[in-house]
Amino acid sequence: MTNSPVFLSETRSNCELSACGLKLNIGRQRLTEAEFESLLQKAKDCGLLDRQIKMMQGEVVNASENRQALHTSLRSEDPQAPHFQEVNITRQRMYDLARAVRNGQWLGATGKRITDVINVGIGGSEMGPHAVYHALREINPAIKLHFLSAVDGVLADRILGVLNPETTIAVISSKSFSTRETMLNAELVYDWYQSAGIQEKEQLTKHVFLVSAKETACAEMNLPEENRFPIWSWVGGRFSVWGAIGLPLVIALGPEVFAAFLYGAYEMDRHMAESREEANLPVTLALLSYWNSTHLEMGSHCLLPYDERLRLVVAWLQQLEMESLGKSIRPDGTVITTRTGQAVWGGFGNEAQHSFYQWLRDGSSRTSIDLVWCEEAGHKHAHHHLVLNANAQAQAQALVTRQTPSEVFFNAVSTIRIHRLTPETLGAFMALYEHKTTMLATLYGLNAFDQPAVEYGKKLCRELEIRLAS
Ligand code: F6P
Repeated sequence: MTNSPVFLSETRSNCELSACGLKLNIGRQRLTEAEFESLLQKAKDCGLLDRQIKMMQGEVVNASENRQALHTSLRSEDPQAPHFQEVNITRQRMYDLARAVRNGQWLGATGKRITDVINVGIGGSEMGPHAVYHALREINPAIKLHFLSAVDGVLADRILGVLNPETTIAVISSKSFSTRETMLNAELVYDWYQSAGIQEKEQLTKHVFLVSAKETACAEMNLPEENRFPIWSWVGGRFSVWGAIGLPLVIALGPEVFAAFLYGAYEMDRHMAESREEANLPVTLALLSYWNSTHLEMGSHCLLPYDERLRLVVAWLQQLEMESLGKSIRPDGTVITTRTGQAVWGGFGNEAQHSFYQWLRDGSSRTSIDLVWCEEAGHKHAHHHLVLNANAQAQAQALVTRQTPSEVFFNAVSTIRIHRLTPETLGAFMALYEHKTTMLATLYGLNAFDQPAVEYGKKLCRELEIRLAS
C-alpha cells in the first residue's frame, strides 16, 4: 500500500479517453504514469483483450456451470456472432408483439387497449430493464412499466391496486423459472386476473407472457408456447437486459428505441475489441479498479451520476459487479488472499452531496469514485442543468482534496461525461461496465458468471419456509 497521494495527471499528459459518445477522464486517479504503464503491461501479459474476445466467440468461461457467457451476442450485428439466428428470431418476435400492443392490434381479453405492463422478476430479471426504463421513459412513451420484484405485499398492492387487469400485460421474467419471489408474485398476479374474470387459457394468453430458459414454463402456467420468449443458459441473468428480459422495454419504449440501445452496446463491444489497451475504455476502468482494490486497498467503489435518468444504474451496477466479483475462490478451488471485487454503492450525486459526501471527503476511509454527468440536458431548464453540472465538476475536485491535511486518506476519482444521454449512449455506458466487470474477473482469476453464495441463501430460505409453514 502506498501513502502517496499523487494524481495521474501530475505525471501523464493525456488522461482523457473517449468512445461511443463517452469521455473518460482519469487524471484524478492515484498513481503515477509508470504505475499506470505497468498496469497496461499486465493487461497485455495476461491477454486481457484476447480473453474478452474469446468470451464473445463462445469459449466456456463459466467453469463451475460449464457454460458460455454470450450476452454480447444479444446485441451483435455480426452474422458470425454465436447464436446470431436464434437471437434474431426471438428479437423479431419481441418487436412484432410490441408493435401490435403499441398500435392497438393486440387487445386485452375484454377488447381493451393495453396501457400498462408489469415486469414480474427480481435481480437480473428486473434491474436492467428498470434502470433502462427509468433512463429513457420520456422517449416515445406509450405504455407504462411497473416492476414487481420483492416478495412484499405492499409493493404488490401498490402496483395491482391501481392498475386495471383488463388493460395490463404481465411479463413474468425468470431465467430459472424457480426463483421463489417471482413465482409467488406470479401467483398473485394470476389471482388478480382471475378475480377480474380473466381466467381461461385464451384470456390469459392475451395478458401473460413468460421470459424464461425453462421449456416447460408455459405448460406450468397454462399458456400456449407462443407466449414464451426464451433466454438461454449462455446468458447470465445480470447480463441479460439485451435479450428477451428487455421485452417490457420494447413494449413500453418501442422497437426503435430498444434497437438503438442495443446498437450503442454493440459499438462499445467493437471499441473494446478493436482498440489497443491504451485507448480502451473498459480496459482502463478495469485496471484502475484492480489497482484501487488490490494496491490502494479501497474496499468500495461509488458511482455518482448527476442525472435523474441514471439514478437506477447504480443498483444495476451493484448487482453486476458484486454478484460477479464478490468471490475469493478461483475456479480451481484455490483461495485468493488479496482483495477482490469492490463493494459498489452510490446514488444521485447531487442528493448524495447532502447525505454521504461528508463521509466520502473527510471520513477515515478511501473510496474510488466514478462521477458521471451529461453535457447536454435532458430537459429545457438550462439554468438547472448549469447548476447541476457545476456541482458535478466541483465535487470531482472536492472529493480528492481533504479538510484535514492527511496523506493517508484519499479518494480516487474518474469522471465520465456523456455528451447526450440517448438509447445509444446508455447502451454504450452499460456495456462499458459489463466489460469492466468481466475483465476484472480475468485480472482476479475469478469466474464472473456464477453466484454460489446467493444459491446457498436461496436453499436455506426454502428449508426455513417449510419449517415456518408447518
Ligand atoms: O439473485 C440471484 C439470482 O440468481 C440472480 O443472479 C438472478 O439475476 C436472479 O436471482 C433472478 O433469477 P431468475 O431470473 O432465474 O429468476
